[in-house]
Amino acid sequence: MSRVFPATVRITEVGPRDGLQNEEQLVPTEAKATFVRGLIAAGLREIEITSFVRPDRVPQLADAEDLCALLGPAPEGVRYTALVPNTRGLHRALATGIIQRIAVFTASSETFNQRNVNASIAESIKRFVPVVEEARAEGLAVRGYVSTAMGCPYEGAVAPAKVLEVVKELDALGCEDISIGDTIGAGTPADVARVLDLVLAEVASERITLHLHDTRGMAAVNALEGLLRGVASFDASAGGLGGCPFAPGAAGNLASEDLVYLLDGLGLEHGVDLERLRDASAGIEPHLGHDLASRVYQAPAWGCDEDDDCGQDDPGDESDA
Ligand code: HMG
Ligand code: MG
Repeated sequence: MSRVFPATVRITEVGPRDGLQNEEQLVPTEAKATFVRGLIAAGLREIEITSFVRPDRVPQLADAEDLCALLGPAPEGVRYTALVPNTRGLHRALATGIIQRIAVFTASSETFNQRNVNASIAESIKRFVPVVEEARAEGLAVRGYVSTAMGCPYEGAVAPAKVLEVVKELDALGCEDISIGDTIGAGTPADVARVLDLVLAEVASERITLHLHDTRGMAAVNALEGLLRGVASFDASAGGLGGCPFAPGAAGNLASEDLVYLLDGLGLEHGVDLERLRDASAGIEPHLGHDLASRVYQAPAWGCDEDDDCGQDDPGDESDA
């Protein structure tokens, strides 16, 4: 069975950025740093730790510099990445000295992009030209995000041809990784197939990542559809944290625990230890004021005796059992 799937899957953990950006309760910077360290202990190697955007627009991530100072350089083999909307954001990221990859971000629908970054799609891409150039000259890797690829909260359905158009522009700009975002979790496997059929005909699958949100419970089946089509890179968020403040109704990302469970079941390598990942999620949960959404996170471990805790504490709230 595993012959039809990529043998190894890359997971970019976006919990500290996408996961926390939408949280109402301000999470202490120390707790964020502990979260990141827990994710590293779980085996995650690519971690989007924050954003260098306008602090008044995303107050939860206004401590970007402080978090970077607390974390210091990433350990060997781990890469810290961050969202950067413009040159100002790039210079803030560079000044920390610990960001190894930046991500520029635009969308495939105009209204969302305007609300998100106060620019049209064309304006935002124009804005990225000097950003990508300087980032690469500084030795940073560059990712490009294409949001609303399977539906826009303001405009509804989005044509896959528009997604392809933006993917190609980011490709031409020099983004070595392009993350296709189902920002509001609107897509089904049929939408994933339609988008990937077009995109993978023009861009190598090694350069494509799927960034799925789980608003309607489709994220794991959508990931499976991506895997079947040869995509080997996924964004995910510990505990299923996530959402975008400028995309009404968007719920959490594909949960890292759910993705890891799926990949384990398929026998695909990914390098992440599920129980340690649950520990990292359990550490951030008390700072949020609500339970984490991930079904796999909430489910008890199985395959061991009733009295045996399988070497871990149940991270879920026992009163919910
Ligand atoms: P703007 O207001 O158009 O920027 O913001 P401006 O150039 O007109 O500047 C206005 C003021 O903001 C100036 O300050 C700038 O210095 C300041 P003043 O001179 O008036 O005192 N400013 C900044 N300050 C700090 N850092 C910066 C920065 N840039 C300007 N980088 C901007 C444009 C994009 C910056 C703004 O709209 C913004 O920050 N938006 C937030 C976007 C965001 O973080 N969205 C959520 C992430 S995207 C997402 O979640 C989707 C994704 O997960 C994929 C998916 O799910 O599909 C990635
Ligand atoms: Mg997102």
